[in-house]
Amino acid sequence: MEQQKRYGHFDDQHREYVITDPQTPWPWINYLGNEDFFSLISNTAGGYSFYKDAKFRRITRYRYNNVPMDNGGRYFYIKDGDTVWNPGWKPCKTPLDFYECRHGMSYTRITGRKNDVEASVLFFVPLKKWAEVQKLTLKNESNGVKTLKLFSFEEWCLWNAATDMENFQRNFSTGEVEIEGSTIYHKTEYRERRNHYAFYHVNSPIQGFDTDRETFVGLYNEFADPQAVMEGKPRNSHAHGWSPIASHYIEVTLQPGESKDFVFLLGYIENEQNEKFEAPQVINKQKAHALIAELDTTEKVDKAFAELCEYWDALLNIYKVKTGNDKLDRMVNIWNQYQCMVTFNFSRSASFFESGIGRGMGFRDSNQDLVGFVHQIPSRARQRIIDIASTQFPDGGCYHQYQPLTKRGNNDIGGGFNDDPCWLIFGTVAYIKETGDFSILDEMVPFDNQPGSEVTLFEHLKISMDHVINNLGPHMLPLIGRADWNDCLNLNCFSWDPNESFQTTENVSEGTKAESLMIAGLFVVTGKDYVALCQKIGKADEAARMQKAIDAMIEAVKKHGWDGEWYLRAYDFYGRKIGSNECEEAKIFIESQGWCTMAEIGAEEGMVAKSLDSCKKYLECEHGMVLNNPAFTKYIYEYGEISSYPEGYKENAGIFCHNNPWIVCAEAVLGHGNRAFEVYRRTCPSYLEDISEIHRTEPYVYPQMIAGKDAPTHGEAKNSWLTGTAAWTLLSITQAILGIIPTLDGLKIDPCLPSAWKGFTVSRRYRGAVYNITVDNSAGAEYGVKEITVNGKTQAGTIIPPAPAGETFEVKVVMG
Ligand code: GLC
Ligand code: GLC
Repeated sequence: MEQQKRYGHFDDQHREYVITDPQTPWPWINYLGNEDFFSLISNTAGGYSFYKDAKFRRITRYRYNNVPMDNGGRYFYIKDGDTVWNPGWKPCKTPLDFYECRHGMSYTRITGRKNDVEASVLFFVPLKKWAEVQKLTLKNESNGVKTLKLFSFEEWCLWNAATDMENFQRNFSTGEVEIEGSTIYHKTEYRERRNHYAFYHVNSPIQGFDTDRETFVGLYNEFADPQAVMEGKPRNSHAHGWSPIASHYIEVTLQPGESKDFVFLLGYIENEQNEKFEAPQVINKQKAHALIAELDTTEKVDKAFAELCEYWDALLNIYKVKTGNDKLDRMVNIWNQYQCMVTFNFSRSASFFESGIGRGMGFRDSNQDLVGFVHQIPSRARQRIIDIASTQFPDGGCYHQYQPLTKRGNNDIGGGFNDDPCWLIFGTVAYIKETGDFSILDEMVPFDNQPGSEVTLFEHLKISMDHVINNLGPHMLPLIGRADWNDCLNLNCFSWDPNESFQTTENVSEGTKAESLMIAGLFVVTGKDYVALCQKIGKADEAARMQKAIDAMIEAVKKHGWDGEWYLRAYDFYGRKIGSNECEEAKIFIESQGWCTMAEIGAEEGMVAKSLDSCKKYLECEHGMVLNNPAFTKYIYEYGEISSYPEGYKENAGIFCHNNPWIVCAEAVLGHGNRAFEVYRRTCPSYLEDISEIHRTEPYVYPQMIAGKDAPTHGEAKNSWLTGTAAWTLLSITQAILGIIPTLDGLKIDPCLPSAWKGFTVSRRYRGAVYNITVDNSAGAEYGVKEITVNGKTQAGTIIPPAPAGETFEVKVVMG
């Protein structure tokens, strides 16, 4: 690949990506916060904050999809004589003498330098705190005294991010603030039903402020030239309706060489109903004062930051690999694990491609996401499983999404996605394999959150399996319902109306013959785990019952799901083949290849190997494997959204990164180490840093989609951060390739490697014990463990039985 312009570099020692040019090919962002209070922050300090739910508790305002791109954020304006600049370059875009943005683990540090003044801002959300810290350090690097005028800026969102964007006839009259010392309080709607408010504070006296946007910016000015800043004069405005903001004004004098810290704090507070006010219409600020007092000095903030860094040290110490290949090691040890945490936190709700308004947590999405996260904080994965299962219906179906704040199923999208139930098994079994905590199966979990409807989680798993069995079509294959994993293969929707959404339009289930080979494979893979689980907990009858269903499914796939060189994708409403050589377009699809091969259906008959060969032949291209081939060139009414996309984008022959790792896992099933790694490498972002101008999204995280070979912009990524790709790629590299595999019976070691690798080491904490694993591949094998020794003793088989917590094991593995 030709070397192109770079926009930054990895700093692995600090676990940072360092951006050195503010004009990245797309805003390159980071996430702050780990549990309740979250922020998105771009490399120029754009973005917004919210408490728990990006729709219902939006704290600061953001304008999506706008001109200029990435509009709105936490901005510091520095007026030095006639020059006004921002440390992050935007929004003034005054050329800087130096610019750097370091995105790290839940923090971002942006530094700018102009005319011998350095401004460095550290942004982070302290652990367990409902606040974003912005520690600004100003330094005079000149030989003379500097007198600067500093303006901060945040714009309040009126809480519900959806109505904030649409109901401005009301909003223009509701905005309310209070000002007390150096703190600006945002209390819109607090007079009525809200028990929460936000504040923006700085730990220094201020010489002025503004809280009314129009007064501060000016009606005919922009964020790039707010009139108060340009004139160097705050107006001390008090917002009454219109658009409330928070801006502090501070006059700063710095001696030569002197530097000063300012701690800005954006906080969120909830009060008890009977303690809302301290005087009529005056908010009770007690909790805000307390929160401010915890973070009002450089020392306190530095301590909180050190705690955050220790937290990440501990999380990332759980799994550490050394292969000697930096590109790989930094993905596995740092960025892919980090992305898994972020994806676990947000599902598909809030990114620079998802507004945070439209979608809550996905049933299938969250079950997959937690698999990439469960080794880090198993207790949170456990709670998530229970929350997800609580949105299930008594027949095993479920809501496709739920809102994180209320944990209630989302009625707008409803249910009927027939792959969803299987993923509950996928997520739960992964949790038990990691932790050995079978007690989760006894948890009492309601249906549709209805009190009184509780049954055990195990019962939920059982009805999940049954939901597939109870919904078989004419070929005894699973009925697809509204859609399977591929949301856009809408075989029962038949829409000619451009005003309806494929995702929510009526689902014609009466008389449908639409069946999914992808669900068939998924059912067999998760079914095998379910059977093993039943055996483990003494439910032999249930295991036998389900084994029968699995065997029948395997037979049905072999009989009705094989096209000669690959597995069919589906049958449509009328029972016609989809993803067959007989089809005019889209003859082969990746999803059924991935799942039926992972399920090893027809392995003896050579189906698995043939299917993977076909993937290589028909789906693989320079930047990864496309979803289907050839791409649809026209809209097919019977297929729905999939054929609505132009060739090469999204679910129409895009490289949908989420399903590439399925092929990695499948290649590993056959022991094809070279192929497995090859498929892994093609979509791995750190390998794409050199082609950032083509790839465009962050070189440290996966995107959902890369434009496929049929697209004019082949190789261009979209939709970075929130994608099931994060969990699946981590799973594929750590388990399928490196072969360190949690099982119900202990840690299994079974690598599948490129033959050129001489070996690697992994340190893995598992159920409280530490395994220091050294794999020796001087034999140049792709697959096959010759010998394992644990603390010097030869181990029979590849599974190391669970050991007491606290112990350390030296594990030596010889391949060959
Ligand atoms: C999106 C959805 C996911 C779906 C995939 C394919 O990533 O979040 O649920 O499986 O698209 O359509
Ligand atoms: C759109 C997207 C798809 C996503 C679905 C669900 O159809 O193309 O990726 O899964 O919406 O919201």
